[in-house]
Amino acid sequence: MTNHMPLAALRAELDSIDDAILVLVDRRLAAASAIARAKAGEGGQRLALRPRRQAEIVGRLQGQAAHASSEAVADIWRELMAHSLQAQRRTEIVLAPGVDAEALEGPLRRRYGSAMPVSKAATLAEALAAARTGDAIAILPAPLEDDALTLFDRIEDGNGTPLAWCAGRVAAEDWLQPPTLAPACGPASWRRLKAAQMPAWPDAAVLARVEDTLAGAEPVVTLPSILALKSALADVAEGRSVLLHGGDCAESFAEFGAEKVGETHRLLLDMAGTIGPASGKDVVRLARIAGQFAKPRSELMETRDGVTLPAYRGDAVNGADFTHAARTPDPERLLRAHRQSRATSHLLGGLDAVAGAGRTWTSHEALLLNNEQALTRFDLAGGRWWGGSGHLLWIGDRTRQLDGAHVDYAAGIANPIGLKCGTTMGADELRLLCDRLDPENEAGRLVLIGRFGAGAIGRHLPRLMRATKGRNVVWAIDPMHGNGRVSGGIKTRCLEDILAETRAFLDIAASERVHAGGIHLELTGGDVAECIGGGVKEADLALRYRSLCDPRLNRSQALELAGEVAARLAGRALAA
Ligand code: PEP
Ligand code: CO
Repeated sequence: MTNHMPLAALRAELDSIDDAILVLVDRRLAAASAIARAKAGEGGQRLALRPRRQAEIVGRLQGQAAHASSEAVADIWRELMAHSLQAQRRTEIVLAPGVDAEALEGPLRRRYGSAMPVSKAATLAEALAAARTGDAIAILPAPLEDDALTLFDRIEDGNGTPLAWCAGRVAAEDWLQPPTLAPACGPASWRRLKAAQMPAWPDAAVLARVEDTLAGAEPVVTLPSILALKSALADVAEGRSVLLHGGDCAESFAEFGAEKVGETHRLLLDMAGTIGPASGKDVVRLARIAGQFAKPRSELMETRDGVTLPAYRGDAVNGADFTHAARTPDPERLLRAHRQSRATSHLLGGLDAVAGAGRTWTSHEALLLNNEQALTRFDLAGGRWWGGSGHLLWIGDRTRQLDGAHVDYAAGIANPIGLKCGTTMGADELRLLCDRLDPENEAGRLVLIGRFGAGAIGRHLPRLMRATKGRNVVWAIDPMHGNGRVSGGIKTRCLEDILAETRAFLDIAASERVHAGGIHLELTGGDVAECIGGGVKEADLALRYRSLCDPRLNRSQALELAGEVAARLAGRALAA
């Protein structure tokens, strides 16, 4: 009917509708002020945000509208509600340092309307303090926890990448069903995923207490040193340096001391002294140390003389002795591993200072995610999480599932990440893992560590190297873990196999035109007999086998391997 009214009459109708709306808007704002006064009368109670109630109101109205689109209802009520809130109490948006104010301007307006003043806090503490008064919504660069505040919203860019988190004083009725924040962020997000190889900690309360203690403890490494290793590894990715990565299969509480750390340090230094000058490249020394206390196991249980107990999983989890008490996982061990890691890291720093040959970096397998999460810290300036337990953290061949917890944790931190690649790794799988772990294709971020076995490397490394063409990764070889043998019931490896896989790696890298980035070894500076060859015979294993896990190269075997690598790289340097 209105369609047939003359234009002047239509305009007059609009004017009268506006008058009617104004009456209602006036009433709404007056009611809001009345609510504020009523609350003040109830004892000056602070106003709290009602994000859930607001969303419910808009949803209900969208369902009732006949002509207005959902967007129109959302836009109009967003502004109305923002003004209502201002009528109750002046509320502002406070940006914490570290958020991108420019990128957030549009999204914040679309979320909260244009009535809220926006200001910048000088410090994070200031932003949080403003939100705690109830007078502000704090816009944070990361999902920080704060007892008085609720993280009730997350702002994303057009691609779904989080730009900021919104914290405020939220009414108790609204926390009962907190709006779900997509958890794909922060160091705890692994907890919703399947985590392979995690010990069955018997007492969740003890574990939680240990996690709290670690969360408040000094990390083992600092962010600047992590970034310095990343930049050293970028040189490896670009072929200017080589990586020498090595140390015990697992550190132990019993074998700890200045002498032990000194032996490992000296051996890496001596190997680097062989490889560096021959190759004409700097050597990046990365130790498996100061955190390498946990092991993945193929067999979860071990049986001896008819008795079955949980397998030994490294000193951070349980004891190697074959008793029920020793083999029961004990979270308190994480605290001891942390203390020893800090002490080891200090010892290494002292040894490096004396040697004057640059830094020895630390690394371990990021296996125990409760421990890793507890030692993860946030860098406000850079807006990123970083793992404080070691410079480089690697993902083992048994825990590298694309949809698993370990990959999720590693994807969320800024450290250089190692990824073990065994024979079951698919080319597509590797491409997807690279996308997930290194979306920026950043040189120095990702170290791929092949471990196939001397007989299998030729079938697998070429296809995997081809899969990573165009990616700025480091390719390294672990010639230990694919070459296990059992001799007289003892786990061993033959130096010949280790040399053969290393040579094959260098040859394949050359023919695939990929930089041979480095080697990853299990070794010790001590005079052990755990691997056969280079002077160690099968019979010696029974006498000088000291590893609680995998067999390591001893000093002279490791130096022999370094000599071989040096000679080959020298040949390449000459040919180039
Ligand atoms: C290791 O490096 O000690 C290890 C267990 O390796 P992988 O995950 O390659 O088997
Ligand atoms: Co090992």
